[in-house]
Amino acid sequence: MDQVDVDVQQRKDGSPPAVAVTLRPLGLADADDFMAWASDERVMRFLRRPLCATREQAVAQIRDTVVGHPWFRAICVDDDDAGAGRRPVGQVSVWPYADEGGHRANLGYALSHGLWGRGIATAAITMVVTRVFDELPGLERLEAVTDVENVRSQRVLEKAGFRKEGVLRRYIVRRSGEVMDAVIYSFLASDRPSAHGATRGEAPITFYGKSVLV
Ligand SMILES: CC(C)(COP(=O)(O)OP(=O)(O)OC[C@H]1O[C@@H](n2cnc3c(N)ncnc32)[C@H](O)[C@@H]1OP(=O)(O)O)[C@@H](O)C(=O)NCCC(=O)NCCS
Repeated sequence: MDQVDVDVQQRKDGSPPAVAVTLRPLGLADADDFMAWASDERVMRFLRRPLCATREQAVAQIRDTVVGHPWFRAICVDDDDAGAGRRPVGQVSVWPYADEGGHRANLGYALSHGLWGRGIATAAITMVVTRVFDELPGLERLEAVTDVENVRSQRVLEKAGFRKEGVLRRYIVRRSGEVMDAVIYSFLASDRPSAHGATRGEAPITFYGKSVLV
């Protein structure tokens, strides 16, 4: 899966048209767009990855950690009103733990601050769980570990169908060195609707959002 379209539909109540959210690989040519979220402390607050202060650092980070990553995608939005086309506005990644033989993987994600609250991350993660178990052979469990204070991220996981498993006490070390409790969530291959009889890939994912000016 390099790109998945989400239906764009007008809400019946006349509210703005939905946003098309797509996923595709992120490359060196995306360095400028990558900077928009990777250099923003508001976005990176709960992430361990260092902030990108310069374009050169963005290029280096993409080269060293994205190119060659087992499953890393740019979250793109398509906004006809802005005429911006499909531009990366965030990232989502799945990293299989090597020592577990690939049956368990960690989910990570981030979105440009100006687009928070429009359901874009939820749509992207919903697409991930729909596809990634087919794309990474042997993967059975996707898990996400969130800082206890990152309630927005926890809400996104719940909306995408992840199950809250509990609190990991004094588990996360923030970039500042502060040690925090974490909340762990999981989504199993068997949690997919397709695992219970629906035909995979037939049902479109429909995302109703607000129009976006990137
Ligand atoms: C986490 C993140 C990806 C969410 O993206 P998003 O597109 O804004 O998420 P969505 O719009 O799909 O959903 C956000 C939900 O959080 C809710 N929310 C926002 N602030 C909240 C708060 N303070 N308390 C509780 N819920 C909150 C919103 O209301 C919304 O839920 P709703 O649809 O039920 O109203 C984005 O905030 C981000 O990039 N954060 C920084 C990086 C990060 O923390 N990554 C995850 C590391 S584990």
